Amino acid sequence: MNKKDITVKFAEPADAVHAELIVRLIYESALQRGTGIAKRTPEYIAQKINSGKSVVALHGDRLVGFSYIESWGHGDFVATSGLIVDPEYRHLGLAGAIKAKTFELARLRFPFAKLFSITTSLPVMKLNSKMGYKPVTFSELTDDNEFWEGCQGCKNYDILQRNNRRMCLCTGMLYDPKQPLPADERPNPYMMKLKNSINKLLHF
Ligand SMILES: CC(C)(COP(=O)(O)OP(=O)(O)OC[C@H]1O[C@@H](n2cnc3c(N)ncnc32)[C@H](O)[C@@H]1OP(=O)(O)O)[C@@H](O)C(=O)NCCC(=O)NCCS
Repeated sequence: MNKKDITVKFAEPADAVHAELIVRLIYESALQRGTGIAKRTPEYIAQKINSGKSVVALHGDRLVGFSYIESWGHGDFVATSGLIVDPEYRHLGLAGAIKAKTFELARLRFPFAKLFSITTSLPVMKLNSKMGYKPVTFSELTDDNEFWEGCQGCKNYDILQRNNRRMCLCTGMLYDPKQPLPADERPNPYMMKLKNSINKLLHF
């Protein structure tokens, strides 16, 4: 498998046909890992795709990866969620490419928001760290009830509740656009976009 044959792009409404597959991939991988996961319906995923808040990885017509963003707390925060790569396409650097694209999408649509994700996944923690995210306690994340209610489908929800939403098994990671990162380490969404366009041209 060659990563060059795979396109990672902002999802378009036509990509909503993959919503059921996305839900299945997320669910099956959560079962396999034995971890909790916020359950999503195909309708929820389709709505994320139709509202221009998703990124897909496609190998021809086959969906091989996905993630979406959502804003919380009146746009003060944006979460990147639902990252999944088809098991047959793992270890190619696809999650990195999808993360970079969701970062670009979030920064273009919500330039002033803090970005965050909550995860139990080591690869995701590694990727987030590379992009300048820092581990934080949940107190630093959004207090938007609707976000935390999304955890209800997770098998660890009772732990979150028992701790008054202050902690759970996930690690919270936050990217604050105001944090004083050295300029050359700061991901630049416009440069990312330029690089993607050049890659696309070279691909053709
Ligand atoms: C997590 C997941 C998205 C990674 O996808 P991927 O395309 O294989 O990841 P990449 O090839 O881009 O690798 C990203 C980094 O994670 C590391 N990594 C990948 N899989 C790993 C694993 N199982 N254990 C430890 N590190 C791993 C890679 O080495 C790489 O690190 P590096 O850049 O320092 O080399 C994929 O395994 C998956 O879909 N898992 C199930 C769903 C899931 O866990 N989603 C996250 C929910 S928050």
